[in-house]
Amino acid sequence: MSERPVFVLNGPNLNLLGKREPEIYGHTTLADIEAACRALAQELGLALEFRQSNSEGELVSWIQEAREAASAIVINPAAYTHTSIAIMDALATCSFPIIEVHLSNIHRREPFRHHSYVSKVAQAVIAGCGAHGYLLALRHVAYLLAQSR
Ligand code: DQA
Repeated sequence: MSERPVFVLNGPNLNLLGKREPEIYGHTTLADIEAACRALAQELGLALEFRQSNSEGELVSWIQEAREAASAIVINPAAYTHTSIAIMDALATCSFPIIEVHLSNIHRREPFRHHSYVSKVAQAVIAGCGAHGYLLALRHVAYLLAQSR
């Protein structure tokens, strides 16, 4: 088990997954995603911190906390992806892998979703794989951490 947890951070409205536009985001709830992440993290020997906030400032504070305490960040910044220089700047202070995840393929959707501030500082981006994208991200984190040992 790695000592430092991987922080999995989720942005606004992701608490409504399962009820929210299921034709786009699917029927899986955030609790389902958390359970799947916890099961895989255990298999991979990763400690996990899984959180969701509707507040930009809280996400920035958690990224600052992760900066000191985490081994990597997996983040679905939701709508803040497209607007938040503050989240991008906070992530830029982190010197470990950052994986950006989107349930939907943002590049197939409205033009305002095509630009991501977070992609400027993410090592990798996974979009369009639904909830499975979180698991792909954790597998990639495990691969990167094993490589850096
Ligand atoms: C999202 C895509 C964003 O454009 C949107 O604002 C979300 C969810 C996704 O996971 O597909 O809230 O990040």
